[in-house]
This record gives sequence, structure tokens and C-alpha cells, in this order.
Amino acid sequence: MIGDPASLDDVITGEPVVPGEGHMPRHVAIIMDGNGRWAKKRMLPRAMGHKRGVEAVRNIVRAAGDFGLKALSLYAFSSENWKRPEDEVSDLMGLLRQYIQSDIAEFESNDVCLKILGNYKALAPDIVEMIEDALARTSGNKGTILAVALNYGSQDELVRAANAAAAGGAITEASIAANLDTAGMPPLDLVIRTSGEQRLSNFLLWQAAYAEFWFTDTLWPDFGKDEFGKALDDFAGRERRYGGR
Ligand code: FPP
Repeated sequence: MIGDPASLDDVITGEPVVPGEGHMPRHVAIIMDGNGRWAKKRMLPRAMGHKRGVEAVRNIVRAAGDFGLKALSLYAFSSENWKRPEDEVSDLMGLLRQYIQSDIAEFESNDVCLKILGNYKALAPDIVEMIEDALARTSGNKGTILAVALNYGSQDELVRAANAAAAGGAITEASIAANLDTAGMPPLDLVIRTSGEQRLSNFLLWQAAYAEFWFTDTLWPDFGKDEFGKALDDFAGRERRYGGR
């Protein structure tokens, strides 16, 4: 039955979630916003905000493992972010290269399984190669799934998924879900956005159908484990009804 929590979860993983109080989310998505404002407040170049943003990413990925999350999705570069000035795009790509190079060994030792959401093959060939190497090296890991959205747009993902579903037969909720970039991940439980903005910005539109939302004014470089923990505690106290009563 549509809207029934068990069948909704079955579509994606076959594992029903028990709604109610006191539950840790399994899959959390974060819209990491505010790097530019963090830098501006300190009269630093935007690149410094992004650099500190990567440090926040590193802390939050470690925290996700400590908190026992099954999956963490991070919105790192949207398909709209290409519209930013060339030097900023190049700074972000440089940080991505550094991040993969410096943290891949930690993913391996911490049992993190890397996944990419979005059309990463349109990135520079050396980044694609680095990503594919990292995917291969971590694919057998069974701890936290770290899904990094790169050149990602949810509407584009849905069009790709619907086409793939149609090519395989009927378009159904299950066939679309099975062809999303998040296929195989647990259902999305909680979406966090930093920096005071309250919108989805084309991130995980389908997956967020029954997700809870948590917003903070904290700018992304200042978002740390303590505040992440508060968001998870807040989630644990909410009652989710999935359209029921
Ligand atoms: C928003 O800040 C941040 C992004 C453009 C995406 C997040 C990017 C990072 C954390 C760095 C790279 C990530 C990885 C995984 C290597 P903004 O520039 O939109 O901030 P503003 O709204 O204050 O200007």
C-alpha cells in the first residue's frame, strides 16, 4: 500500500523502518551551505571558506561512523554549480582531488563505502579516474555509505531513472527507486541544511518524500559533531506517521 512505511521501505531496501520515538536515523543527507559567508565574515577569500568546508566534511564523515549511521549523503557540487565563476569551480575541483587523495586510506580503515550521486563522468578525466579507483577500493566496505553528490541534480536523476525504468519494462515506484543513484541505500530519514536557508535546491527530491528536516543558522565550516548529534537527537524524538495518523 502506498504510504505504508513498511512497503515504502521495501521498495528501496526490503528492510522496514519502525516509526516512532527514540530512533536513530539510518540515512542522513546534508546540504552544506555557507562556506562563502563564513569566509566573508572573516574578510577571507571564498576559497578559504571552501577549504574549511572540507575540514567540516572530514569531521562529519567521522562523526557519522561514530554515531553508527548506515548512510550519509553530502551535496558537494550541484549541476547548477558550474554557473559559478571559473576560478571558484576550479578551487572546488582542486579541493575534491585533495580530499579523495588524502582521505581514501581513512575510508578503507574506517569501513566507509564511497558512492557518488550524479553524473560524475562529466568531471575532469583525472578526477573521474580518482573516483573510480576510490569506488573500487571501498566497494566491499560494510560500515557507513558515504554518498557524495557531484554534478548532481535531482530532476536530472529522476529523468535518468525514469528512462532506465522504461527501458526495462514498466515505470513503477519500485522501478524508478531501483534506478536512482541512491539505489541500495536505506531510505532517507533526515535532511539537514546549514546557514539558515530552508530549501531543497534540487537535492534528493524523490528520496525526501518522507524525510524529516532540520535547519540551522550555523555556517557549514562551523558545523561539527556536537551540533550533528543535536540534529540526530531531535530526529529521535519526532513521531513519523508516513501519511497515517
Ligand atoms: C556552499 O557554500 C557550499 C558548496 C558550494 C558545496 C560544499 C562544498 C564543500 C564543503 C567543499 C568541497 C567538498 C568536498 C567533498 C571536497 P556557498 O559557497 O554556497 O556559501 P554561501 O552561500 O555562503 O556563498
